[in-house]
Amino acid sequence: MKQNEHVPTELEKCAAEPIRPADELVSRFPVTAHPRPANDEQYQESMKSLAFGKVFTDHMAHMRWTHGQGWHDRSIIPFGNIELSPAAAVLHYGQEVFEGIKAYKHTDGSIWTFRPTFNAARINHSSNRMAMPAIDREDFVASLAAYVRADHRWVPSQEGSSLYLRPFVIATEPFLGVHSAHQFDYYVIGSPAGSYFASGVAGISIWVVKGYHRAGPGGTGSAKAGGNYAASLLPQMEAASRGFDQICFLDTYEERYLEELGGMNTFVVMADGSVRTPELSGVILEGGTRSAICRLLRDRGINVTEEKIAIDEIVTGIEKGTVAELFACGTAAVVTPITRLAGEGFDLSLPVGKVMLDTLKALTDIQTGQATDPYGWMYRLA
Ligand code: COI
Repeated sequence: MKQNEHVPTELEKCAAEPIRPADELVSRFPVTAHPRPANDEQYQESMKSLAFGKVFTDHMAHMRWTHGQGWHDRSIIPFGNIELSPAAAVLHYGQEVFEGIKAYKHTDGSIWTFRPTFNAARINHSSNRMAMPAIDREDFVASLAAYVRADHRWVPSQEGSSLYLRPFVIATEPFLGVHSAHQFDYYVIGSPAGSYFASGVAGISIWVVKGYHRAGPGGTGSAKAGGNYAASLLPQMEAASRGFDQICFLDTYEERYLEELGGMNTFVVMADGSVRTPELSGVILEGGTRSAICRLLRDRGINVTEEKIAIDEIVTGIEKGTVAELFACGTAAVVTPITRLAGEGFDLSLPVGKVMLDTLKALTDIQTGQATDPYGWMYRLA
């Protein structure tokens, strides 16, 4: 293999397979309109100052899976509380997976999303690991498009904003035995969103955690399952009490190699211009943003390696100047500079670097329609 050549992952291969246009799919999810959608005043108030994940739109997508019937009852329904038996399996054994994907309003009013087939493949990867049923990729994409069409007014258009979409599946069978449930419910909810971090491109601070681990070999680390995030909350709270925005997990055995942050992937930019990111070892989540960034950088001739990255090398590299930048990435975080990296025995500052800023611009220009999309990543929802 030539230097910088990349062998596509299973998710990237699935993402590259063509999918029919949304116009041909949306009728799978018929709409029951909300009888009392947010009025003008509530709507204006909600859209005024966008944070992350606090406000929800008028509708949601839903479908149910039962043993024997498979997925059925596809619909767009009013957003509202869901009825759940206190015995529902998700409440006891955490059988749940979710996704994060965004809808962007372009200047001509059309609404687009980014690589929905990647997320479709990933929710099925996650579901497989959690012993949950797969979703037809056209159902997944249809649910996003039908939902966004019903709630198109909620897709914000100001710079840096989007409608954050949260598809998720929960085990709803009322049963206390430990086995995979016989009933699951799938939903898509959405939240008009600004920056995930209040500091935005000013940079975030990271505490490198020892003593807590997110996932181990053979575990659920590569699945987007709620439990992985629950496991990150205690170290995240401890880091927050020290004044840090996020944590970085190290590998379980040696506590030496970078894995991922509390909810996003990470990149290291070397002073020689090359870029490194932790390899997909089965314990970290394969991010769609991570995959797109690797592609964008490689296509600019930048050497990107996916490998084991030792924290001690990064610390020495920052001290000696061989590490130039660090950044985080994810659907919610987009591309965010890491300007402080600390852990036991070190506390270092980094600049907001050019590679990070160029990457952020290249990615968001494609997502917002300000640059052409040579990769076929964008999919028109409405
Ligand atoms: C996302 O980036 O979409 C995630 O699901 C991560 C979470 C920290 C919001």
